[in-house]
Amino acid sequence: MTNGVPHVLLVSGSLGEKSSTRIALKRFQSVLDDKEATVDCWDLRDEPLTFLNPEETFASESYGPLKARVAKADVFVFATPDYHGSMSGVLKNFLDHFWKEYSGKLFASIVGSYEKGLTVADQIRTVARQCYAWSIPYAVSFNEKADFDELMDPTSDLDNRLRMLAQDVVVYGRVLAEQREKDLAGTDPGFMARYRK
Ligand SMILES: Cc1cc2nc3c(=O)[nH]c(=O)nc-3n(C[C@H](O)[C@H](O)[C@H](O)COP(=O)(O)O)c2cc1C
Repeated sequence: MTNGVPHVLLVSGSLGEKSSTRIALKRFQSVLDDKEATVDCWDLRDEPLTFLNPEETFASESYGPLKARVAKADVFVFATPDYHGSMSGVLKNFLDHFWKEYSGKLFASIVGSYEKGLTVADQIRTVARQCYAWSIPYAVSFNEKADFDELMDPTSDLDNRLRMLAQDVVVYGRVLAEQREKDLAGTDPGFMARYRK
């Protein structure tokens, strides 16, 4: 966070060229443009990660800059299609690459699904819990057939849900980032104490 402005990392977890998930995330990004936030977008189609091999990946030269990019974020917004009730493999692989970089920060999700994507959002929430992150108590899910018009523009209903999420990630992202900074600088007990330098 810089001068009270939270930094949001958007992660696009679909490799499809015409992915509806990416369209929804791009729309979300444009809504964020009107908010007090800095934004980075990591599209795993354009910037793929090789499959995690813990012995090789964490020791590789290329890992440091990836980690720094993730560590900079106060909020993560993960967009994924529903694959068999789960997040996409590329998103899971992204999530596996980092751990401490998520702690004390905020997770949010946008899920493309015909079935509301509840199990997908739950899995992302499980990762948040495992890594001591917070999560927004709801997800935005969309149905690629019902929530876009013929030009693949989001309907006003989806647009409103994305606006609500944008508001919440900026407001709660800032609150959590402020508290995280205090906790890291302080001496009181609390789960962030383990991350003090
Ligand atoms: C391998 C695979 C598995 C899928 N499994 C589900 C599923 O379990 N439930 C569901 O609602 N949709 C499922 N779908 C449909 C996609 O989630 C849906 O079409 C989504 O909007 C695609 O997002 P995209 O346009 O970003 O690729 C599946 C699609 C694929 C390719």
